Amino acid sequence: MTTQAPSADTLHRLERLQRLRELKLQEAGSAVAAAPLQPKQQQAEDLAGQADELLFGGAAGGGKTHWLISHAARQCEQHPGNRVVIFRRVFPSLARSVIPRARAMLAGRARYNDARHVFEFSNGSVLELASLQYARTA
Ligand SMILES: Nc1ncnc2c1ncn2[C@@H]1O[C@H](COP(=O)(O)OP(=O)(O)OP(=O)(O)O)[C@@H](O)[C@H]1O
Ligand SMILES: [Mg+2]
Repeated sequence: MTTQAPSADTLHRLERLQRLRELKLQEAGSAVAAAPLQPKQQQAEDLAGQADELLFGGAAGGGKTHWLISHAARQCEQHPGNRVVIFRRVFPSLARSVIPRARAMLAGRARYNDARHVFEFSNGSVLELASLQYARTA
């Protein structure tokens, strides 16, 4: 069996499809990012300003990650030069869930630096995604 290299035309179409997919994701992400906070998320938002530590538990799909990303982004936008880090235990779980979600939600608000896993805001703030497997390495 022989395999043929895809033609330039096919590659061009694939690129356009990929771009369309990204635009759709961004559109969906912006709409979700602009959606009002759910009651539990609003409660977390109100408490966050008064606490050093905040525990946000609850059911799977309860909106924890969404609130965390939107809160971190608000903190970055409100305070120029701010540095915020979101940790997961291992990097694959960031790559699987948090990073694509944050990229969609923050499209047009921050530039994502793929090599450093950092969102850069125009006011100098940065939101970093990092893994922290062992407490003793913190
Ligand atoms: N305020 C909101 N407005 C619109 N959609 C929302 C809102 N909060 C969360 N969602 C959507 O609800 C779904 C579940 O939210 P999310 O992933 O943040 O929950 P989670 O608590 O982190 O879930 P898990 O425990 O599985 O990690 C996602 O598709 C998210 O986009
Ligand atoms: Mg989550």
